Amino acid sequence: MENQQYSNDLEKYFYNNSGRLITKWKHYFEIYDRHFSKYRGKEIVFLEIGVFHGGSLEMWQNYFGPKAKIYGIDIDPRCKAFEKGNIEIHIGSQSDRNFLTDLKKKIPKVDILLDDGGHTMNQMRVSFDELYDHIKDDGLYMCEDMHTCYWLHYGGGHKRTNSFMEYSKNFIDYINAWHSKQNSLTVNKFTKTMHSVHFYDSILAVEKRVMTEPVSLRMGTPSFEEDLGNSGNGLGKKVKKLVNLILQYFRLPSVGID
Ligand SMILES: C[S@@+](CC[C@H](N)C(=O)[O-])C[C@H]1O[C@@H](n2cnc3c(N)ncnc32)[C@H](O)[C@@H]1O
Repeated sequence: MENQQYSNDLEKYFYNNSGRLITKWKHYFEIYDRHFSKYRGKEIVFLEIGVFHGGSLEMWQNYFGPKAKIYGIDIDPRCKAFEKGNIEIHIGSQSDRNFLTDLKKKIPKVDILLDDGGHTMNQMRVSFDELYDHIKDDGLYMCEDMHTCYWLHYGGGHKRTNSFMEYSKNFIDYINAWHSKQNSLTVNKFTKTMHSVHFYDSILAVEKRVMTEPVSLRMGTPSFEEDLGNSGNGLGKKVKKLVNLILQYFRLPSVGID
């Protein structure tokens, strides 16, 4: 790519890389930079699952700067050879809970985790289950290549049970659980630790933050009297509420609510 205007430093590094091999999808660089740029130049801990030929770890070091500690995980023991300076590599499987438990004792809490490993449903799920709590309270969990969630040979399929995409869609409900009036959705660990969930083509980004119950505020003088929904026939209202409770139970659309 000659005489090219790069949209960010990662893209520039990638297209000019003649060092160790890196493999990324073209549209990922904008997403990385959107979520990662605030960590640049800081003393952060970055963990990438999936080292491959080692090129991406070098790219992260270059992007985040010399104060960043870069960890890699790979099942391939040859990857150990790519350790240098602030880059440390641990050999093991991302779906091996014992390996991950052991890893958590060896590395500090992480600012950014990027899952670019084997991308099967089980691998992505086990890594998330085991490592989410090892991300700092204001850290980021990113999982890429989630198009495998639609591929049979990775255990995926549209709306398939055990798809990591289906699992992560639940996060949308969890962050809104404060407002739920149903027992099927209550405040949980994720409600209290997830600030936002971002879905892109093939990428999920979960931004963590310590969350407390949201507060509704009002300031200023009302311009007219509000209808707070208390008007109307008492019996009719009760029947409508009961009907809608039943419909809600069966997850059917409401009636009489415009
Ligand atoms: C897509 S490549 C990683 C690419 C690299 N991050 C890059 O950007 O150049 C996937 C890597 O995941 C590793 N891998 C596959 N299954 C794994 C597992 N169960 N645990 C850890 N790593 C695994 C493979 O050995 C391979 O190196």
